[in-house]
Amino acid sequence: MSTNVRPESMARITTPELAEAFIAEQIAEVRAQVGDKKVLLALSGGVDSSVVAALLIKAVGKQLVCVHVNHGLMRKGESEDVIKVFGEELDANLIYVDATDRYLDLLAGVAEPEKKRKIIGEEFIKIFDEEAAKLEGISFLAQGTIYPDIIESKGVKAHHNVGGLPEEMEMELVEPLKLLYKDEVRVVGEALGLPHAMVYRQPFPGPGLGVRCLGAITRDRLAALREADAILREEFDKNNLNHVWQYFVAVPDFKSVGVRDGKRYEGWPAIIRAVNTVDAMTATIEEIPYAVLHHITDRITHEVEGINRVCLDLTPKPIGTIEWE
Ligand code: XMP
Repeated sequence: MSTNVRPESMARITTPELAEAFIAEQIAEVRAQVGDKKVLLALSGGVDSSVVAALLIKAVGKQLVCVHVNHGLMRKGESEDVIKVFGEELDANLIYVDATDRYLDLLAGVAEPEKKRKIIGEEFIKIFDEEAAKLEGISFLAQGTIYPDIIESKGVKAHHNVGGLPEEMEMELVEPLKLLYKDEVRVVGEALGLPHAMVYRQPFPGPGLGVRCLGAITRDRLAALREADAILREEFDKNNLNHVWQYFVAVPDFKSVGVRDGKRYEGWPAIIRAVNTVDAMTATIEEIPYAVLHHITDRITHEVEGINRVCLDLTPKPIGTIEWE
């Protein structure tokens, strides 16, 4: 599928049967393109790269080499899920790089959001390059490019300035999803047997928790953010709120006074944000039931070391952006 224009005759993939037909067609195309050569894929664990990985595993098996870089800014359990699903269940050729220390050392003391993004993006390219250099005989680079990427950003699989891959890599691209819309990618992902939670997960920015641990990232505040975010996600699941487009916690870099166990206790606030949108250009606020908010507040303030308040962000986009920085 070399064209970058979706033919008008192409049916929208809405059913498992249509997904199966698409998968069969792509398997044949990828095999014809790749032959017996090796394919490299940066597997973030996001919907698009996960679906590409599952599809290519079916098409070329161990000829696919997946590289998962844990930048230390993943949500709780995400890298573990990638290892479990791809490394264990699908028996993929998976290289796991734990680059947590490398990232957190580089980011120490850096408070400016765009500088943080730049560091995270550039370091990713460096690490991916290093891993690619260790491998021999890689001829193809697979990417989870989808149709909106082609329409909106001239085919670059990147949002803002994070998520791009080394431009100088001289490899032919394999982009089996490039004519699909997001909803179709999800139907294909389910047909490939990926877990529902992985296929239907909410968007997560490339710089991860890095842009939610506001200001200069510290390890203790990042750990608190990760725990608070995990509680929020767990409670949204339990309370049937996981249809909300994006919901997360941000933790600013200041403390307020509180009381714990009869003693003065200084802690960070956890800010909850839950928004609905169609295209992320504008967004409205989800009205979370107060009982759920009270329960989440209770859990976060009791279970998360370092957090002593929970606040709710009621700002639509515009005037707020979805992320805090
Ligand atoms: P904003 O904050 O601009 O976010 O209203 C719109 C959507 O984009 C996501 N976002 C990012 N995604 N790299 C990404 O891959 C980034 O640097 C980045 N910044 C924001 C945000 O989560 C929301 O879905």
